Amino acid sequence: MNPFRQGLMGDRLPAPTVLVIFGATGDLARRKLMPAIYNLALARHLPPGFSVLGVARRPWSDQDFRDEQRAGAAEFSRTKPLDDVVWDDLAQGVGYVQGTFEDPATYASLKQRLDDLDRTRATHGNRVFYLSVPPADVAVIVENLRRAGLFADHRDASRSTRLVCEKPHGTDLESSRALDKMLHDALDESQIFRIDHYLGKEAVQNLLAFRFGNAIFEPLWNRTHVDHVQITVAEDLGIEGRGRFYESAGALRDIVQNHLMQLVTLTAMEPLAAIDEVSVRDEKVKVLRALRPLSPACIARDVVRGQYTHGGVAGAAVLGYREEKDVAPDSVTETFLAMKLHIDNWRWRGVPFYIRAGKRLTRRVTEISMHFKAAPLALFGPSAPEPNVLALRIQPDEGITLRFVSKVPGPTTVLRPVSMDFRYGTTFGLSAPEAYERLLLDVMLGDATLFTRADEVDWSWRFFDPLLSAWKATGRCEPDGYAAGSWGPSEAGELIARDGRRWRSP
Ligand code: BG6
Repeated sequence: MNPFRQGLMGDRLPAPTVLVIFGATGDLARRKLMPAIYNLALARHLPPGFSVLGVARRPWSDQDFRDEQRAGAAEFSRTKPLDDVVWDDLAQGVGYVQGTFEDPATYASLKQRLDDLDRTRATHGNRVFYLSVPPADVAVIVENLRRAGLFADHRDASRSTRLVCEKPHGTDLESSRALDKMLHDALDESQIFRIDHYLGKEAVQNLLAFRFGNAIFEPLWNRTHVDHVQITVAEDLGIEGRGRFYESAGALRDIVQNHLMQLVTLTAMEPLAAIDEVSVRDEKVKVLRALRPLSPACIARDVVRGQYTHGGVAGAAVLGYREEKDVAPDSVTETFLAMKLHIDNWRWRGVPFYIRAGKRLTRRVTEISMHFKAAPLALFGPSAPEPNVLALRIQPDEGITLRFVSKVPGPTTVLRPVSMDFRYGTTFGLSAPEAYERLLLDVMLGDATLFTRADEVDWSWRFFDPLLSAWKATGRCEPDGYAAGSWGPSEAGELIARDGRRWRSP
């Protein structure tokens, strides 16, 4: 083992903690949380005594829960096969509390189990409560935890309480404020960790390293040099059997208001004074505050809603959205959204940000591209020189590409676009940790840099609320159809073509 790396791991070793997962029999625990915990254990990032308690309704024993989670870790871990020694060691601290979220007896049993763990595994009253539950269950769980005396005061230095909430953080401005009030009645903001798993992705964190760890890009990162910015979050998958959830969410609430806006704020933010939770989150909020409000004219002109119809993805025929399980046959929920945004500050005024996100598109790709202004003179021929493009690939095939023109070898001067390419996979030769590994570790360490602060959620909803209201006011807001497997409705192409630009083909 490399002693230098061992040292670095030791620097970020949290205090002994119990992670309590509400909704522990669900998909998130099996597919994401337990594989992440296992990989943290494998890399020796977990503190001694670290324990997990699952809470859910199913009548499972501790052993049933362990078996189920082991199967999840074995199937979904990024490192395979499962190391039995590491798992068995981890499993000694894994247990299950059965009960409904409404029943005070559930919390009495939980308290008992937590006290036992403090005694047997020396977890010293440090708790992370992870709510992997539908939004409707959040309030009842928080209220019951509070009543059962399971929340430590945030000023108590001897033990810590942290609450992790999965998105959606509300469904509009009003509901997000109500949720926030309820959370703040029980806990201090420093104890609340709102997860947006995009922030846990390596390539998203690298945006900060790229922008502020290098000196040559920042001087170009502004209205003087940038013509426009494009951000694409495309998925080839459909709604994966989550029709009930998706019908009430749509692309705006599922991806755009959270994941995609994280990419907007990190791309557009001002240079940081420090990499810490105050500086990073302050700068993100400033971007949201500078977004030009969506007027009715903007909404009509600069927003495209789409919904997939049947088609083919990667050679296989797929259903249209309205034919999916638990989706109304006349549903008008959007599975695609494209918009033009303006950030009215000194850096970005006049530089449009074109964003788009959708399900059942041609392929899975998340990418941010900076399109620079063209060279001022066409010295090498009558046609305008190809503008430079800097593309930051968030996934898959994480990396960065810079496009520029080059002379084609030969006796005449002919130019052609070429690329310089950096790929994580080939450069570092490591499998990047999953987003949840980094985020779970940060929660245990009490580092909220990669979590969404209350005011950030609020400003984001303030921006989108007029759009939601406009859709509601029109009654039936019919989306534009697009064939599954395409790049979205033709209207999205027209949105950008009107400005003499086109979507980059990722
Ligand atoms: C989730 C959405 O938050 O993010 C899903 O609810 C979406 O609909 C997923 O598929 C995308 O995450 P990733 O990490 O696969 O890009």
